Amino acid sequence: MIFDTHAHYNSEQFDADRDELLSKMNEGGVGLIMNACSNLDEIPDIIALCDRYPFIFGAVGIHPEEVDGLSADYLDRLRRSSAHPKIRAIGEIGLDYYWTTETKAEQQRILGEQVDLARELKLPVIIHDREAHGDTMRILREHKVWECGGVFHCYSGSAEMVREITDELNMYIGFGGALTFKNAKKPRMAAEAVPLNRLLIETDCPYMAPVPYRGKRNSSLYLPEVIELLAEIKGLPAEEIERITEENGRRLFGI
Ligand code: NI
Repeated sequence: MIFDTHAHYNSEQFDADRDELLSKMNEGGVGLIMNACSNLDEIPDIIALCDRYPFIFGAVGIHPEEVDGLSADYLDRLRRSSAHPKIRAIGEIGLDYYWTTETKAEQQRILGEQVDLARELKLPVIIHDREAHGDTMRILREHKVWECGGVFHCYSGSAEMVREITDELNMYIGFGGALTFKNAKKPRMAAEAVPLNRLLIETDCPYMAPVPYRGKRNSSLYLPEVIELLAEIKGLPAEEIERITEENGRRLFGI
């Protein structure tokens, strides 16, 4: 079965047809979904999705674009929410210097605090790293991320950084629609470098739809496009990529 390891089905872009779409997952071959979280307000909706759908699991965490004005008790609220049996990760957390550089210091502090929380709770982290590779790697090292593990989602780093992430940081690497874009030479070289037992697939839906759906609303049903491309890159049948990435996702999130 297909395991979409990063989705946002709580997004309002699914409000009109969420249940209809999610009811098609099974026949589309999608058997597991990890729903990521961006801010505290999303948590009740994410937990509701986990309760309603046996195949949906969730994460809780503060996205780097959401650090501004964050309430002082946010760690306690994340800790409490993580007690739900289907919350299996802290994320998405990280650094984003593409959209917001003026909150750099805040982003770094909140990333570090959330990695510490993940280690305390023995949950893996889901990392968002955009235009911030150096600082992300430094903070993850400083906060001993290898003790809880996790995933670099929608990986945009170099092929050289891959081994540091998989071997030194004990983490996985996720690829989605961006891999299929015409100019995606760098991510394809990175995907080639990722050991098979560290490879994950994801949508980041509603964003990042793969070619030929680029620009449309994304969903887990488009993941076969990503699987086909990874199969080509790795020189393996698509069914093997599907099986391996499912196993990897289950191992990472304890499912
Ligand atoms: Ni995301």
